[in-house]
Amino acid sequence: MYYRSAGQIPRKRHVQFRQPDGSLYAEELMGQEGFSSDASLLYHRHLPTAIIAAQSVERPPDGLVPNAPLLPRHVRTHQLDTGGDLVGGRRLLLANDDVRISYVAADAASTLYRNAAGDELVYLESGSATLESVFGRIGATAGDYVYVPCGTTHRWLPAAGAGGDGQGAGEPTRALVIEARGHITPPGKYLSERGQFLEHAPYCERDIRGPEGPLTVDDDGPADVLVRHRAGLTRYTYQHHPFDVVGWDGCQYPYALSIHDFEPITGSLHQPPPVHQTFAGPRFVVCSFVPRLFDYHPDAIPVPYNHHNVDSDELLFYCGGDFMSRAGSGIELGSMSLHPNGFTHGPQPGSVERALGAKGTDELAVMVDTFRPLALGPEAIAAEDAEYAWTWAGGRRQPSKV
Ligand SMILES: [Fe+2]
Repeated sequence: MYYRSAGQIPRKRHVQFRQPDGSLYAEELMGQEGFSSDASLLYHRHLPTAIIAAQSVERPPDGLVPNAPLLPRHVRTHQLDTGGDLVGGRRLLLANDDVRISYVAADAASTLYRNAAGDELVYLESGSATLESVFGRIGATAGDYVYVPCGTTHRWLPAAGAGGDGQGAGEPTRALVIEARGHITPPGKYLSERGQFLEHAPYCERDIRGPEGPLTVDDDGPADVLVRHRAGLTRYTYQHHPFDVVGWDGCQYPYALSIHDFEPITGSLHQPPPVHQTFAGPRFVVCSFVPRLFDYHPDAIPVPYNHHNVDSDELLFYCGGDFMSRAGSGIELGSMSLHPNGFTHGPQPGSVERALGAKGTDELAVMVDTFRPLALGPEAIAAEDAEYAWTWAGGRRQPSKV
């Protein structure tokens, strides 16, 4: 992302920078790809290295199973149990070696946490929450993607029950969580050689909301931080609270992007999903389907053609509006469909005819296309609508012949 600075920083990097009592601030470089990519410099009151305890945190096995027999799947996320926090309450639904996709309906503040295995993208479906991190504070509400870079110590404070953003009192903050094994960036096709958003990009710098900060807390510690790393989970106890940064600058920091600031690209005939691309991850992409005018050719068919993407599994999370192409399939708000590689999918029967002449759509959906197969978690299977696979045939399922 582009350069930002917040709070107090010294005139030059890596020079003496003193606190009011004359002691030195502790400089920390947080950077990607071994000093060879984007980085930020943070200035701490205390040593960010001072741990006084470390403990492995056991977690139950993920319980992932292959998508077999190979089927299109429909998971009703609103049937999942609610409660917990935006980190610990995540219910793993789908995963492969590149990405883990979870759903959470949170009503509690998280512990301090950082993911050392990759970047995270948290899409708020409803409700609101605040992300507090070493970089500062970001307020997020329904429709926001919140990007949290790998290695960022942070915590999530949902505004559950506040009734803000139209949510009812006592309603949890609902979110889709995308955890990458690696980094998530804006698609390179939207950026100039030096990283500016180009004119054809569906969003740009003005839509990116960085942290308000810096953020320092009076609590001097000790403080526990849960760290997800490649081998599991570890809880560190730090001598001092990590929110002690008086200033930072650089190109790596959390930010928010509202799906409502994504300006759709439309055409006279059906535009393919790459026009909806919002982020790029390691062997996956994230796309946003937002309210838009439909194709304006007089003979246009506004819904997608049947398609078989031989290189990807397609996951679609339906989070607003009316899904014309899925009428009669049982898809509802909060539904998640998985159309895997190996299965040709398309509009449900009658959808094409019903769509003819339609001028626009108010649908809102987040899509994650992965280039390796997604395995299913136990909670995805528990909340699955097992009839979905047969809806293109009008629900007429026949017993398998052995
Ligand atoms: Fe598709």
